[in-house]
Amino acid sequence: MARWSVPLTDVVISDDDIEAVTDVYRSGWLSMGPETAAFEQEFAAYTGSRHAVAVSSCTAALHLVCTASGLGAGDEVIVPSLTFVATVNAVAYTGARPVFADVAGPERPWLSAEACELAIGPRTKAIVAMDYGGHAGDLEALRSLTDRHGLILIEDAAHAAGSRLHGRHLGTFGDAGAFSFFSNKNLGIGEGGMLVTDDDALAARARLLRSHGMTTLSWDRFRGHASTYDVVALGFNYRLDEPRAALARRRLGRLDDENRRRALVAAGYLEALADLPLAAPLTPREGLTPSHHLFTIVLEPGADRDAFRAHLARRGIETSVHYPPAHRFSIYSDGAPARLPETDGYASRSVTLPMFAHLQGRQLDEVASAVREALD
Ligand SMILES: Cc1ncc(COP(=O)(O)O)c(C=O)c1O
Repeated sequence: MARWSVPLTDVVISDDDIEAVTDVYRSGWLSMGPETAAFEQEFAAYTGSRHAVAVSSCTAALHLVCTASGLGAGDEVIVPSLTFVATVNAVAYTGARPVFADVAGPERPWLSAEACELAIGPRTKAIVAMDYGGHAGDLEALRSLTDRHGLILIEDAAHAAGSRLHGRHLGTFGDAGAFSFFSNKNLGIGEGGMLVTDDDALAARARLLRSHGMTTLSWDRFRGHASTYDVVALGFNYRLDEPRAALARRRLGRLDDENRRRALVAAGYLEALADLPLAAPLTPREGLTPSHHLFTIVLEPGADRDAFRAHLARRGIETSVHYPPAHRFSIYSDGAPARLPETDGYASRSVTLPMFAHLQGRQLDEVASAVREALD
């Protein structure tokens, strides 16, 4: 299976993890039940949120936030283009129109508060910020902007499990946050997500919509807490299942430790690449303990990125680009993509290097020497 000597990302599932999952299969209760409820409580405590609603993906969490916040046709929502397309799709699912705003700069790949302010119009209802690589970006400025204009702030915290700014967990700066537990994420379990919020009404609405708008769940009925149900809203099936909740609980217990190991990898890269003609935009700012979800470098203008990546691939090193910008996808460009020069600049020059908690010193040296050769 291992095609790469240094893959972009990797995950270790221990025998104890497998046992915890097997125990769930033996229990005979497979979807949303005690493991999911315990995971929600533990994740709420971990992030300092009043509510955590476990769902089948971050995309589902984002969609639930948008829907439960009342976004719909006729509304506009400001979004980054430098993100995974799900951030934008979640807005579009509701009928609201995503309006792209630029990132802050070539070494600041997150939504610019100034660009957002310029994009606000009479139909604007919300801003979706994305915590790029687990970084806080302009979150405080965005919060004060949305407060001044009476807008909803949604945080796509897919990258940010374990990221804290001055002790406050990312995903909790807005009205609601959405986390991803997709395989390549810091808390990867295959598929899964979590919505966090301090807003009681939003959480209750999201819980209702997560399971078909039904007033009781199978688990409630199994325990004899109810015998029937009503359907009071047009909901979805966005439930998480018990085996993955069990795996997530185990992985949450070691998330901080794994993120500290990622921090050592990031520090190792920064040291090894310090003298090279490239920028490393994800150097943590003061007060930030990031998840180190990604390690990206930005090549000089005019550098041949394809050739650079091809050289690393020949050395067995997998790289990626985060992200092909959403405003250039056919579905969102309408033939005339928005003008986002900083996003285009970053998207055309950045390269994501391998990053995972157990990346070995030997692998880091291989990556650094291949980067050096490729730039030569
Ligand atoms: C920034 C961002 N938002 C949303 C998502 C969607 O997450 P999921 O795959 O859990 O739906 C991802 C996943 O890759 C992501 O990176």
